[in-house]
Amino acid sequence: MAIDPAATNWSQRFEQGLNPAIERFNASIGFDINLLQQDLDGSVAHARMLGSCGVISEAEALQLIEGLEAVRAEAACGSFQPGLEAEDVHFAVERRLIELLGSLGKKLHTGRSRNDQVGTDLRLWLRSQIDAIDGALLRFERALLVQAELHSSVLIPGYTHLQRAQPVCLAHHLLAYIEMAERDRSRLADVRGRVNCCPLGAAALAGTPVPIDRRQTAAELGFEAIYANSLDAVSDRDFAVEFMAAASLVMVHLSRLSEEVILWASQEFGFIGLTDRCATGSSLMPQKKNPDVAELVRGKSGRVFGHLMGLLTMIKGLPLAYNKDFQEDKEALFDGVRTCLDCLEAMAILFEEGLEFRPERLEAAVAADFSNATDVADYLVAKGVPFREAYQLVGGLVKDCLAEGILLRDLPLERWQQLHAAFEIDIRAAITPRQVVAARRSEGGTGFDQVQQQLQRIRSRLDS
Ligand code: ARG
Repeated sequence: MAIDPAATNWSQRFEQGLNPAIERFNASIGFDINLLQQDLDGSVAHARMLGSCGVISEAEALQLIEGLEAVRAEAACGSFQPGLEAEDVHFAVERRLIELLGSLGKKLHTGRSRNDQVGTDLRLWLRSQIDAIDGALLRFERALLVQAELHSSVLIPGYTHLQRAQPVCLAHHLLAYIEMAERDRSRLADVRGRVNCCPLGAAALAGTPVPIDRRQTAAELGFEAIYANSLDAVSDRDFAVEFMAAASLVMVHLSRLSEEVILWASQEFGFIGLTDRCATGSSLMPQKKNPDVAELVRGKSGRVFGHLMGLLTMIKGLPLAYNKDFQEDKEALFDGVRTCLDCLEAMAILFEEGLEFRPERLEAAVAADFSNATDVADYLVAKGVPFREAYQLVGGLVKDCLAEGILLRDLPLERWQQLHAAFEIDIRAAITPRQVVAARRSEGGTGFDQVQQQLQRIRSRLDS
């Protein structure tokens, strides 16, 4: 049977084209076209290296590079539109190069396999996306910092178990999320170090007899290191898992903040108002203003966690070295990165222009509860009463106040002195919300001085 050379990408071993459904099933061009720029960059570096190592002539290398740049130009003007027959971006570029250059184009794949090629492309792509996520994290942190600076003397109830615990400075609360985002940045920077290792030259799995220079291509592509073991080079997807784990934590942090925004915007809390820029209405209930941005971010976190589990499961049973299963890593990474970037941008905008804190509601909230009870106990501790004894006494007092429907601040001095002789008139000043916050001067605490130090430290870090 005569072979139709257009029917297959494969060697003369193959006599027939793929079943059309299998062609569709097998193809990754629909999504890995996303790696086109990186594929071209990798091929340019590979061609240049083949030339300088004398595998092809320098003139041939230059022609290959010109051809690759011509494909880039075609893609830029929209005329490079590979179909399913190309299977993937790597074949698509090589086919087009052969169309443009004739048999010289057939030299590009010397000493290389799609296995090391796809790993190179993916790492180049992910490296640049990690940089983009770092920038998005910085924008988000700056938006939080501006709100924190505006509200460095506003108080907010602090909760444990979602029960009122002790008042804190609103800036302190927002700064906690900046700390999380800073850890996210450092985690991603750490992952980036391991993404930035070049597998190119591992070829299919075992290396190549072609006298290539792996260090030249790695250096041209900006990689910091090359894989030491060719089998590991083509079968390592740890970097994808690590990235998705770091991205999952970004999403966890955004989702927790989203949950707070949703609570704060409720009528029950009323700590913030949503501006029209980031809120939506109801198609039915005319009074509604919904925190969709925060809800979507909270909801989208699930996709990224799902990709993490998907990647781990995809890899766990694979023998060395490359397996086609790896083709499944791409959509997970593309969607994980997109989701993370979109959510960071949306949350930054929400804090830049989508919400307004309501200081009067916040002040009223901290004034009318028992979140100063610990400070009554601490007052006695300062007078030499053992903490546990003071704790028991104040617990009884709170119980009585609750029964009488009054607050600690309403108690006359006689009541205090009945409870313990150590109380003096200054107990009243010691338990105002502002004093309660100011008193927490321990390092990293919510005391105003401590919060000022945090604000200054973060401001100078973000400005540098
Ligand atoms: N499209 C493939 C992938 O994404 C490229 C590598 C194919 N390698 C192979 N030996 N079939 O993983």
